[in-house]
Amino acid sequence: MSTAQKTSARVVTTKTVMTMKRAGEKIAMLTAYDFLTARYLDQVGIDIILVGDSVGNVVQGHETTLPVTVDDMIYHAKAVKRAVKNALIVVDMPFMSYQNTIEEAVRNCGRVMKEVGVGAVKLEGGEYVAGIVRHLVKIGIPVMGHLGLTPQAINRFGTYEVRAQDKHEAAQLLRDAKILSDAGVFSVVLEKIPAGLARKVTAAISVPTIGIGAGPHCDGQVLVVHDMLGLTEEFRPRFVRRYSEMADTMRGAFRRYISDVKSKQFPTMKESY
Ligand code: KIV
Repeated sequence: MSTAQKTSARVVTTKTVMTMKRAGEKIAMLTAYDFLTARYLDQVGIDIILVGDSVGNVVQGHETTLPVTVDDMIYHAKAVKRAVKNALIVVDMPFMSYQNTIEEAVRNCGRVMKEVGVGAVKLEGGEYVAGIVRHLVKIGIPVMGHLGLTPQAINRFGTYEVRAQDKHEAAQLLRDAKILSDAGVFSVVLEKIPAGLARKVTAAISVPTIGIGAGPHCDGQVLVVHDMLGLTEEFRPRFVRRYSEMADTMRGAFRRYISDVKSKQFPTMKESY
């Protein structure tokens, strides 16, 4: 089998993802924001590709995800969509694109679904977005929820520390997960919460939980692709397992190129016309 061949040719839908929970099959999700990364993820059988608003951090260089716009998300999601044959594509709805009114949420989520043609959107928040989630699902827009350390709320949290460590916040998070599940989400991301709480939430709701820094008991896992590839060197929380050291690989290649140009070893006549 060539390295480009997929290990499985299953087309993943929101229904597949829900069935995977019932079957006890773990869900593998990673982010992508561009055509080639999405192509390689799809070729090796990733279940879900998240076009995350983390694009604001790892691609655009912002400190937070707040400046990301709906147009940014559509631009990146279109590139991802062109590459993908099998994975479910989920697009993050950026800050202030869905929180204000149901009308605004419908308009912005509708744009993403219609202009890109992806499978679902992801919204951050619990109880306070449940009405919006219920309406979106009713009109045919599948929604993934996101609880715990929701980066769009960083100015309220004031820190990227583990969330829901106290009883009160833990109880609210469990309540939020049930409310979102009742509102019709097909899955929920749990970010940076204690593993014991993630286990409780996973047992309490019928839709899959997808953890990031939420321990091993979730139905699936997600990481930001730049983190797991070792491109974001300074970002080293314990929940990120690095599968490569690509920052070193890139710097090494760039150094060799510069050296070859300066020393007139590139290009040779073989590389010329
Ligand atoms: O934007 C993102 O990449 C995310 C993941 C961290 C879940 O929301």
